Amino acid sequence: MVSTGGKQVIYDVFTATLDAGDEVIIPAPAWVSYPDIVALADGTPVVVQTKPENGFRLDAEALRGAITPRTKWLVLNSPCNPTGAVYSEADLRALCDVLLDHPRIWVLTDDIYAKLVYDGLVSKTLVQVEPKLRNRVVTMNGVSKAYAMTGWRIGFSAAPVELTKALIKLQGQSTSNPCSIAQAAALEAVTGPQDFIGGMVSVYQERRDLVLSMLAQAPGLTCIRPEGAFYVFPSIAGVIGKKTSTGKVIENDEIFVTELLEETGVAAVHGSAFLTPGYFRISYATDTESLREACTRIQRFCASLS
Ligand SMILES: Cc1ncc(COP(=O)(O)O)c(C=O)c1O
Repeated sequence: MVSTGGKQVIYDVFTATLDAGDEVIIPAPAWVSYPDIVALADGTPVVVQTKPENGFRLDAEALRGAITPRTKWLVLNSPCNPTGAVYSEADLRALCDVLLDHPRIWVLTDDIYAKLVYDGLVSKTLVQVEPKLRNRVVTMNGVSKAYAMTGWRIGFSAAPVELTKALIKLQGQSTSNPCSIAQAAALEAVTGPQDFIGGMVSVYQERRDLVLSMLAQAPGLTCIRPEGAFYVFPSIAGVIGKKTSTGKVIENDEIFVTELLEETGVAAVHGSAFLTPGYFRISYATDTESLREACTRIQRFCASLS
């Protein structure tokens, strides 16, 4: 069904299905809206930290360890905001095997960045990997990212029919459905020529590579190579405890991004906002020259710390 953005799909799914105390497993780093939406719907977010050495992907063992009798949903976001991590078919297969052992658990897959994958990768949905899960998976997508149509507010979901009926009822009593003009524009986007997406993906890939190579020259930062979305998520472990030229101690990621903004004018988001302190997120959804300038300023800022 069509909704007023991917976010609305998530909001409606959790509002329609969660009872107080129901648990939702959220692998972190995670888009900050997930835990807030779960909490608004009276559910309990269960945040599971993934490991950088595992490419910030949830593995089967961590999923199994997080499941309790109250677990109702798992949220999966591939490619991921903020890490750019992409789950391979083998990664998804391993998670599917755990889910097949737990028939009560439903899965919301946020595939909003699915078309933005690099290095020749192809992003698969969970249901493509394991069709047996289709009666308890909500596959969400939208036009905000691949078509750069965030302001048009169109998202969509494929879900089991009874859940879709509940979402339709809820939407009819809240947003009264997305506006018809935006629906017509989104229809044109998804059914019209798609060849420009390939060009956009190669430009994003070049920007990712530029940002990664420039950040590698910034003393104290280390970064894993993201395979999708338009973010990099560097660790600031190497600058924690250092001082800025004005004497401010970089005690944590929030101070790091605040000082970076004040000293250089470069805006980034601290990792704590994505439930993972010690990192920060850079978006490379901007023009190459601005990115080059921003990375030069980040390099200078890091080099000035002592
Ligand atoms: C992971 C993720 N899911 C969903 C959305 C929301 O998309 P929409 O604009 O369709 O509500 C975003 C937007 O930032 C996002 O990063």
